[in-house]
Amino acid sequence: MSRIVFVLNGPNLNLLGKRQPDIYGHETLADVERECRALAKKLKLEIRFHQSNREYEIIDWIHAAREEAGGIVINPAAFTHTSVAILDALHACDFPVIEVHISNVHRREPFRHHSYVSMRADGVIAGFGTQGYGFALERLARLIDEKKV
Ligand code: DQA
Repeated sequence: MSRIVFVLNGPNLNLLGKRQPDIYGHETLADVERECRALAKKLKLEIRFHQSNREYEIIDWIHAAREEAGGIVINPAAFTHTSVAILDALHACDFPVIEVHISNVHRREPFRHHSYVSMRADGVIAGFGTQGYGFALERLARLIDEKKV
């Protein structure tokens, strides 16, 4: 099982730290990437970290992951609530998928309560701030380790 993990981030997450800090906190996406890389080293995972505001780019990265990765951590941001195309791309993958939301989407507007991606995700993490990415990587490492035996 590959130890390459794609960490994919959807629209507006490039503005993390500046955008609605009362909801998403003050850490930037570069901070999140740095923390993911440090943790990945400990977990012996290799990270491919990406962000895009374009749905097709996220789909293309999911297709790339399908070829070489052992799992995906994805914060699809607003595409969570709209994208059947991202759900379909994830359905084409046979490795673990962990969905992450920085905020607790269930405490927010009703339109954030439904996630297309959750229909495929093996686990969903929401409301732990950017720390959720670390939890997701730890879970993926465990699932990849278990597949090895
Ligand atoms: C988000 C929650 C989404 O509803 C929102 O559209 C985002 C970020 C989160 O990380 O909490 O952009 O995925």
